[in-house]
Formats: sequence, structure tokens, C-alpha cells
Amino acid sequence: MAYRRGVKVVLTGAAGFIGSHVAEILAEAGHEVTGVDVRTGLDVRDRDGLGRVLAGADAVVHQAAKVGLGVNVADLPDYASVNVYGTAVLLAAMAEHGVARLVLASSMVVYGEGAYDCAEHGGVRPGPRLTADLERGRFEPRCPRCGSELARATIDEGAPLDPRNAYATTKLAQEHLAANWARESGGSAVALRYHNVYGPRMPRDTPYSGVAAIFRSALAAGRPPRVFEDGGQMRDFVEVRDVARANLAALGGGRPGCLTAYNIASGVPHSVGEMAAELAAAHGGPEPVTTGEYRLGDVRHIVASPELARRQLGFVAEIPFAQGMKEFATAPLG
Ligand code: UD1
Repeated sequence: MAYRRGVKVVLTGAAGFIGSHVAEILAEAGHEVTGVDVRTGLDVRDRDGLGRVLAGADAVVHQAAKVGLGVNVADLPDYASVNVYGTAVLLAAMAEHGVARLVLASSMVVYGEGAYDCAEHGGVRPGPRLTADLERGRFEPRCPRCGSELARATIDEGAPLDPRNAYATTKLAQEHLAANWARESGGSAVALRYHNVYGPRMPRDTPYSGVAAIFRSALAAGRPPRVFEDGGQMRDFVEVRDVARANLAALGGGRPGCLTAYNIASGVPHSVGEMAAELAAAHGGPEPVTTGEYRLGDVRHIVASPELARRQLGFVAEIPFAQGMKEFATAPLG
């Protein structure tokens, strides 16, 4: 069903980085947006409070979440509570109030490692990289069958899911809960698996930040971005206003009774080293340094096909990397 204007949308996480852009784009498209955010007094775990805003709504766009990689296992209860329990409360309240459409912010972290090809064994899924390899500066994952270095491939929505940290686990749990809700209630759910989002109002450097925020914060403080490994690790950096447009497109997508998941990516991958160089140049320095450090939990490459979102949602990212990074280099942080 394609929506036109005037859809009554409840937007959770409306005061956040991505949520605030989604709020703007939905309003510009003529929809009626009610924002829910813990910062403005309504927690998604508050079923009664949600009930009051959901009455009469047509759709929910669920961005509220505890994000990032987490610091240690002490974070687990909080991830589970906000992301898993919060989503369960939201879905129950949607069913109670007959709201039959959900757009869910998911993440490419549900895939774990990216997709790879072995020259001999074809498509393979490597396990975590070995410390001994990383210590020697051998950063490319190896074939689980023959041990030779792998070439990266693009990942599509049908890839096996392999969440490797608390955040990833709770994002996948959200997708599963949303699929249960869709099946039981006949509602339609669209999960948007965001790749590396960046842009204006991105929260500044915290232990939970992604690499774009870390580099941008370093530059703002006059420090060089520190590029780990050899800088050759590939990601898909997608601008936050493109992500907001994907949410708008997703309002008209999905199928009753199902959850459909889409990669939300630019389709043009760049290495972390390239990103650091582009951002540093646009900022006027200092130049990045490549340190050879590594983090054990990091995946080497993760790049996606944006094809399904193009075909089924009509979503294509519009903001080119160089333009987006140029603006991000001086745009205010959140
Ligand atoms: C990130 C997010 C993940 C989110 C996903 C999609 C974090 C910590 N990770 O995953 O939650 O779902 O994007 O939006 O928020 N790096 C450096 N220098 C640094 C920091 C990192 O070179 O100072 C490198 C890392 O080694 C890694 C790459 O940058 O190779 C990306 O790191 P990061 O953004 O933390 O994690 P993602 O795996 O991309």
C-alpha cells in the first residue's frame, strides 16, 4: 500500500540523531508525527504512556534504542531492557490499539562478519580473526576450509544472521519480535538494516560511538583521526538524511503478516582510511594516522547490496560520499 500524505505516525527516538532527521522528513512529506523520546519524558517501556499516543495512529517508526557496541557485560541488562523489552512493550501496545504498520531501525551488525569468497571454495563465512594473524598485521579473514585469504563480497538480506555483540543481539531480537507481531496481528513490519550512518547532529565521541563520530570529534579537538588496522577495512557510509528518506519510503512498503528486511546503504563502499582522509581534508587537517592497532571484536569488511530496497521500496541514497563528508566535517554534532 502506498501512502500519500497525512499518515498519523508515532516516531520513537524522535529526539535522537537519526530520529530527529526522520521527524523532519516525515513532516515535510505531510505526515502527522507524534514524537516519543525518553529525553522528552516518554520511555518506550511505559505501556500506559504509549497507549495514549498510539490510540488513532496508523503507523509506528521505531528508532528508540540503546546503540553502539557496549563497553562490557555490565551493559547487557540495559541493552536487553531498552531494546528487547522496550520493543516488546511497543508491539503489544500496537496490537492493543490496532496499529498495523511498523518501520523498525535495525542494523547491518545482525550479519556479524561480511560476505567473502575463497578462490577455491567460493562463498564462505569466516569465524572471528585470530589474534596471531592480527598481531602480524594480517587483517584479511581466512577461509575456514583452506586457510587462504578471502576476497570480500557484498552481503544481501538473505545472508545468515550472526550477531556478535550485545547491541547486535538485541537488534536481531527486535526483528524477531516484530516478525512475531506481524504474524500474530496481520500487521506489516519493515526492518531497515542501517549501514554506517553519519551526518549532522551525530552524537560526539563516546564509548558507544561509531568510527565517523570518533574521527569527527578528534578533528574538532585538533587531533588526527587514528585509523586502525591498515585502513583498508571497507564499510558503507550512508548519510543520515538518506536514512531518513529510507524510513519515509518504508512507510509505504512491507506486506501484511510479514517482516521484510532491507539493507539501507549507499551502495558505494569506502575504506575507513579513505573516510578518514576525506573528512580530515574537508576539515582542514590534521591528517589521519594509520596505527596498525586492532580491536578483537571488529569485522574486517561489511558492504551491502542496496538492490532490494531500490526494487521494493524505491529507495536510492542520493548524497554522494564526498559531499556528505564535506558537510559532516563542519556540521554541528549532537
Ligand atoms: C558500527 C556501529 C554499529 C552499527 C554499525 C552500522 C559502533 C561501535 N558500531 O559498526 O553499532 O550498527 O556501525 O551503523 O557504534 N576504527 C578506527 N579508528 C577508531 C575507531 C574505529 O579505525 O578510532 C575502525 C574499526 O577498527 C573498524 C571501523 O573503523 O574497522 C568501523 O568501526 P565502528 O564504526 O566502531 O564499527 P562498525 O563495525 O562499522
